[in-house]
Amino acid sequence: MIGDTLITLDTIDSTNSFLSDLQKSKELKEGTVVFSHEQLHGRGQMNNVWESESGMNLLISILLFPQHLDAENQFSLSKTISLGIADFLSDYLNDVKIKWPNDIYVGNKKIAGVLIENIIRGVKITNSIVGIGLNVNQTIFSRLLPNPTSLRLETLETFDLNVLLIELFEKLNNWYKQSINEKSKMINLEYVSRLYKYGVKSRYQDNNGKFYATLTDIDKNGKLCLLDEGNKTRRYAFKEVEFIH
Ligand code: BTN
Repeated sequence: MIGDTLITLDTIDSTNSFLSDLQKSKELKEGTVVFSHEQLHGRGQMNNVWESESGMNLLISILLFPQHLDAENQFSLSKTISLGIADFLSDYLNDVKIKWPNDIYVGNKKIAGVLIENIIRGVKITNSIVGIGLNVNQTIFSRLLPNPTSLRLETLETFDLNVLLIELFEKLNNWYKQSINEKSKMINLEYVSRLYKYGVKSRYQDNNGKFYATLTDIDKNGKLCLLDEGNKTRRYAFKEVEFIH
């Protein structure tokens, strides 16, 4: 179960890198979690840096062996994890959404990010390191970040990180169990229905320019499906399209 083994660190370069190295030298149980109070080189998607003030936020990496998933279905793990985080946050906040592929938003602001690193052998995912950065008590962020928020900024309360961690594990375990029980159809429906801008005509930009479209689905490969004004479905991989506010 996620969280049954918890390794807590004061400071590390990146919990994802630490866990990835550790599992090469030591046999670790599925669900092992590394939690650090500080990261010196926190990694985000697309080689971005993940900023986090020391001791303020949840910075964790989880080791999973999702043998129930074929490599071609690896996006299913993103959905499962996003749903767990969104469920956890919904106990504290309204208007929690998943911004495709797996950013967690409150209204129009980003509160958490996910970086999943999979090891694939043949057609199977053998190991997966699920990194989660969730802003909790931090109130001041770099001006370079477009739209950060935290639990404290949203609620004006401060939180005990250890309590939140247990609650987050419970939600993640629920959704992970669902995904093992092959409720993937259900997971997909839940994921799509909680997407930021789902079913709402919005403005997007791709390589060919700006256009209006409605987010209608995410396909099996995790591509974003947008129905444009000419009633044509356009499909995009990550970073091929952008929302415009
Ligand atoms: C993103 O939105 O770009 C993903 C951010 C993921 C950050 C987390 S923090 C814990 C784990 N360790 C890392 O180095 N990155 C992830």
